[in-house]
Amino acid sequence: MTQPIASRDMTARSPDHSQVTMTELVLPQHTNALGTAFGGQVLSWVDIAAGICAGRHARAVCVTASFDEVHFKLPIHHGDVINISGVVTWTGRTSMEVRVRVDREQIDGRRQRALEAFATFVCVDTDGRPQPIPPLELLTDEHRACHSQAEQRRARRLQNRAR
Ligand SMILES: CC(C)(COP(=O)(O)OP(=O)(O)OC[C@H]1O[C@@H](n2cnc3c(N)ncnc32)[C@H](O)[C@@H]1OP(=O)(O)O)[C@@H](O)C(=O)NCCC(=O)NCCS
Repeated sequence: MTQPIASRDMTARSPDHSQVTMTELVLPQHTNALGTAFGGQVLSWVDIAAGICAGRHARAVCVTASFDEVHFKLPIHHGDVINISGVVTWTGRTSMEVRVRVDREQIDGRRQRALEAFATFVCVDTDGRPQPIPPLELLTDEHRACHSQAEQRRARRLQNRAR
């Protein structure tokens, strides 16, 4: 059942409001036969971080609608710490884009970007139907630049979805 909008706080929120940072330690159970992180495990963490971010923005349940292409740029090793950060970059009527970055941190403190992914989440009611979300409040030049790039990705996504 759709929660009436009047009873939800639909005030515009900045990307900083819903930003998520998660830290994980890569243990043996997270690795593949080469001793590097299993891709599905990393994607699970990415999906969790993005889902928390989306839920914080919407203050309602959100489901993953899509992921853009995901490229694993660097292997993540057993014993590495990984820092996962999520931020809402764009909002539509019921959907939003969340950018997730995964940085590997080695024991000597070096940090490198291992992955960047863009996910679309849709806010749903208790029947699983899309419901409106608050708009994104763009406060800084960085917010505006991220939003403008996200609009271009959104246009490409809609074209691909229509195929
Ligand atoms: C996501 C879902 C709720 C969308 O439902 P729908 O009836 O197709 O929704 P609509 O066509 O009305 O689109 C709703 C919004 O989602 C966006 N959207 C839907 N599918 C999308 C996709 N694949 N990629 C990007 N955006 C998408 C639409 O553009 C629209 O955005 P807007 O309201 O901000 O303009 C539905 O497809 C679903 O429940 N999917 C399964 C979700 C799930 O189980 N995820 C867990 C992963 S297994």
